[in-house]
Amino acid sequence: MAKIIAGFASSHVPAIGAAIDNGQTEDPYWKRVFSGFEKSKKWIAEVKPDVVIAVYNDHASAFSVELIPTFALGTAAEFPPADEGWGPRPVPVVKGHPGLASHIATSAILDGFDLTIVNKMEVDHGLTVPLNLAFGSPAEWPCPIIPLAVNVVQYPPPTGKRCFDLGRAIRKAVASYPEDLRVVVFGTGGMSHQISGPRAGLINSKFDKSFLDRLTNDPKGLAAMPHIEYMREAGAEGIELVMWHVMRGALDDKVKEVYRFYTVPASNTAVGHIILENGVKSAKKAALRKKSAPKKAAPKKKSKAKARKAA
Ligand SMILES: [Fe+2]
Repeated sequence: MAKIIAGFASSHVPAIGAAIDNGQTEDPYWKRVFSGFEKSKKWIAEVKPDVVIAVYNDHASAFSVELIPTFALGTAAEFPPADEGWGPRPVPVVKGHPGLASHIATSAILDGFDLTIVNKMEVDHGLTVPLNLAFGSPAEWPCPIIPLAVNVVQYPPPTGKRCFDLGRAIRKAVASYPEDLRVVVFGTGGMSHQISGPRAGLINSKFDKSFLDRLTNDPKGLAAMPHIEYMREAGAEGIELVMWHVMRGALDDKVKEVYRFYTVPASNTAVGHIILENGVKSAKKAALRKKSAPKKAAPKKKSKAKARKAA
């Protein structure tokens, strides 16, 4: 059966993609950002996921303001990079996994999540920048990637709780897929930033770091945070962070934080990144397992007569 083994969350700042595309990754300004993802590249190269489910938002590239799905799942075989005004990014075409994606759509929709099914879609920096941060710039992405676009552009975006619960539904769907696949879920966007208005340039490191802490240790409490708090504390575009809850909801309650990186600024935003692994056993479950484990029978002592005979 398929299983989700880890979550990978990161900002998807478009300027990071431009720095890659324009050969600026070694510039001191950008090196500070890219060096924070070196360990992540090694981690994912070792983990070698069979499939990635990438939760991101479209920035009016695939969906104009005429049509804005709240949750749109990519079920196509491939997703070309979108032209965001400077031509499509020079990155590989994203190859999907129609079998698993259709299975997730069926399971989640029958579970009450009315996903939009997308059989043709271009993907923008919201998806391709995190792929670069995880995989570098290969000729082909190393595994199939299922895009899940979440509306955080037009009010009202979904709540953190709804995103978390969608993660739970995805987890259930993946667990019932018959093929043995190891799946990593990406959550993208954020962290604190505001790109227009009187508070343009807002960055709140204290909020961002607390968000990372709680994402690991208090995911349900964090998912209950209302939209207004994101707006107040993390700026208008900080609402992108609700997408991280989809990733977190798809993981176990207890997770192992294997890596974290945070730096300010990249363009006019904070860059945050965290990797969480499943497989941590809670103390209660471990105690129960220990209690219910069959005790090993003590070896029987041979009688003195039998011992003499054996000798
Ligand atoms: Fe974005």
